[in-house]
Amino acid sequence: MQLATKENVTIAPAEGKLGLLIPGMGAVTTTFIAGVEAIKRGLALPIGSVSQLATIRLGKRTEGRSPRIKDFVPLAGLEDLQFAAWDIFEDNAYDAAVKAGVLDRPLLDALKEPLSALSPMPAVFDKDYVRRLDGPNVKTKGSKMDKAEALMEDIRQFKEKSGSSRLVMIWCGSTEVFHRPAAVHQSLKDFECGLAKNEAEISPSQIYAYAALKMGVPFANGAPHLTVDCPAMMELARERQVPIAGKDFKTGQTFMKTLLAPGLKSRMLGVSGWFSTNILGNRDGEVLDDPGAFKSKEETKTSVLDHILQPDMYPELYKDVYHKVRINYYPPRGDAKEGWDNIDIFGWLGYPMQIKIDFLCRDSILAAPLVLDLVLFLDLAQRTGMRGVQEWLSFYFKGPMTAPGLYPEHDIFIQLMKLKNTLRWMKGEDLITHLGLEYYD
Ligand SMILES: NC(=O)c1ccc[n+]([C@@H]2O[C@H](COP(=O)([O-])OP(=O)(O)OC[C@H]3O[C@@H](n4cnc5c(N)ncnc54)[C@H](O)[C@@H]3O)[C@@H](O)[C@H]2O)c1
Repeated sequence: MQLATKENVTIAPAEGKLGLLIPGMGAVTTTFIAGVEAIKRGLALPIGSVSQLATIRLGKRTEGRSPRIKDFVPLAGLEDLQFAAWDIFEDNAYDAAVKAGVLDRPLLDALKEPLSALSPMPAVFDKDYVRRLDGPNVKTKGSKMDKAEALMEDIRQFKEKSGSSRLVMIWCGSTEVFHRPAAVHQSLKDFECGLAKNEAEISPSQIYAYAALKMGVPFANGAPHLTVDCPAMMELARERQVPIAGKDFKTGQTFMKTLLAPGLKSRMLGVSGWFSTNILGNRDGEVLDDPGAFKSKEETKTSVLDHILQPDMYPELYKDVYHKVRINYYPPRGDAKEGWDNIDIFGWLGYPMQIKIDFLCRDSILAAPLVLDLVLFLDLAQRTGMRGVQEWLSFYFKGPMTAPGLYPEHDIFIQLMKLKNTLRWMKGEDLITHLGLEYYD
């Protein structure tokens, strides 16, 4: 990308409708869509959404310029959002939301009309990648390339029917089993050959991502598995000038971790152990009960501490942190997860202390506003001419994607500063460094 300066960044206007394409219509997707419909009808506020509620300070603290982000950069309006989803089950969004059990029935009943009108398109699915689920609403014909073509046809038809002028795709489907980039992921040519040859290493989420990128549609991955974080997909994103982002929404326990760990480190307090355990009983919990899927989650959940605490730089404080993450499927809790953390820390003269966190959270309530922000910001990035990995959206992810060879930034406060500075940069405003010497001249 040409290095932009204040003078040459231009943002195309957010004209017309924005179509959202969502593989997976479970708890997160239905909570997100029901939320947007409720907000549009004045039944709720977009709580948890930075794009809708946060302000951004411009210029000096004395200037008193702090507009809301949504009034500062041209984002699509909630009334312009159109939805399409794929799922292996045939339930419409109302029935799926009732089954997910996140939102109260009276609210869902008030939104029954728009939710019942959304039925999922047949999915591209492979039981080898999500072993605990199976459903009837799937595309069965042809090679993986034929399935990618079928998804592209779904996208074309949705665009036409909904009258959307722009599209964004966000993966809110189940977590797939852990796998590393293989030979087939090393270049676009290899990947396309692999699609034609039904290469086992290509997962369903990668077939969706390929279809999206091929059609110039930005893509975000809300789950922890490998999708666009491989050379072939990055090549396609660059070639088609499309922004991509991932992976694994930063909600619940990892959100807490990225709030607390930078605080402990900022005061040079040591950490000897961090034990995190969860109980959850939704469909996501059932999928994560499979060790292959859990391995994907474990990778994104555990990498966070190492990057924040930097044990190589501070061996006396963080060299031997014993970090353990557990997820237990416990049906009685449904979507209302409980995440416990026991943190063993040490201070002055090595004296030990303990911190206990018991977060009685609601997974999909925390994830839904992240979906909203991500789709609006990816669309903005696309209209600003940004392509490839969008590191400024790291704020939303447990395992942020970066340029090859670059370590990810996990500290949520640095991530937020980066996000806001990127918005300032887009609009030609001064970046805020927090130096502040000018106030004391
Ligand atoms: N809720 C959170 O806080 C949170 C945080 C981080 C990540 N995530 C991830 O977001 C994803 C969605 O979470 P959820 O709670 O909505 O799960 P969910 O199980 O309720 O919904 C996932 C849906 O995806 C469908 N699906 C599976 N494979 C598919 C495919 N190939 N194509 C189309 N549909 C497919 C399933 O049938 C299911 O309906 C999961 O991967 C989860 O790990 C959620």
